[in-house]
Amino acid sequence: MNESMIAEAGLCRAELTLEQFRNDVLAGLTRQKKSVPCKYLYDEEGARLFEAICEVEEYYPTRTEVKILQRNIREIAAWIGANANLVELGSGASTKTRLLLDHLDHPVSYVPIDVARTQLLECSARLAQEHPELEVVPVCADYTNDFSMPNVLAPSARTVIFFPGSTIGNFEPEEAEHFLRRMTKLCCREGGLLLGIDLKKDSGVLNSAYNDARGVTAEFNLNLLARVNGELGADFDISCFRHYAFYNEEMGRIEMHLISRKPQVVSIADEEFSFERGESILTEHSYKYTLDEFRERAARAGVHVARRWVDENRWFSVQLLMPQSYKACFQV
Ligand code: AVI
Repeated sequence: MNESMIAEAGLCRAELTLEQFRNDVLAGLTRQKKSVPCKYLYDEEGARLFEAICEVEEYYPTRTEVKILQRNIREIAAWIGANANLVELGSGASTKTRLLLDHLDHPVSYVPIDVARTQLLECSARLAQEHPELEVVPVCADYTNDFSMPNVLAPSARTVIFFPGSTIGNFEPEEAEHFLRRMTKLCCREGGLLLGIDLKKDSGVLNSAYNDARGVTAEFNLNLLARVNGELGADFDISCFRHYAFYNEEMGRIEMHLISRKPQVVSIADEEFSFERGESILTEHSYKYTLDEFRERAARAGVHVARRWVDENRWFSVQLLMPQSYKACFQV
């Protein structure tokens, strides 16, 4: 599989991505409460650090989701059915996908969508080799923006969009609703979404998950400043900021911030930004839902939960969502 086999989506072209990155960072740091969209945490180093977070003891979501998928894979595969077209958003290393592809009944195509071009190409090539019968059509795109599904040659029974890892929690709840509506349209009436959702739980567990003792999450967060320095020519002194993450019980979300350790001025692309001691840059929200809250949110987007699976602690849930118009065919 080579470069020319990647379907291009508008914003993937490097210069456009860089311009958008610059605009978003400058706009975010101009706000009264400074912020940078969390999608920028994932440059190559950020993606590597995120993989490392998934391995730390305190970060339960990855291993809990994998356990749910492993335990229920036959039932999940049966719900998806034969000859499916599987689309994965933010496919990364496609680890969880392998489990699905190994158990699905003759999946016809796999469409991984990710901004990290090199990893996308490498993983797609590996998967195509392991599953020679599968049409693999990688799309280099930022799925938070509009993108269109590529043409897949093989006719499929239904399209299922796989969005694991509880990344839906990184959207604001209204954005999540809009996103669900958009994705449901993309997968058409007979299609569905297979989602990972992180559930509300004891705040001690949540706070530890985003403040691991080895400091991998802190490194992941601070890497954003290194990225701004490297790509936008800024002069952040990274040692003058610290990682801060906490569970905001009232809002039902983890908030991740970078806190200025002292009063300082930082230059980015001819602009200067001053920070007071203790001032923060918000870098991520990670919303946690109860099962009912998520069901209601999905219903507002015209989507119903056809089936859901949880772990024994009820910390995480994997759910199969279908358009409400298709509800009659699936009895829960
Ligand atoms: C990708 N996303 C679901 C992770 C989360 O838990 O919100 C990102 C992350 N941030 C810090 N640790 C992990």
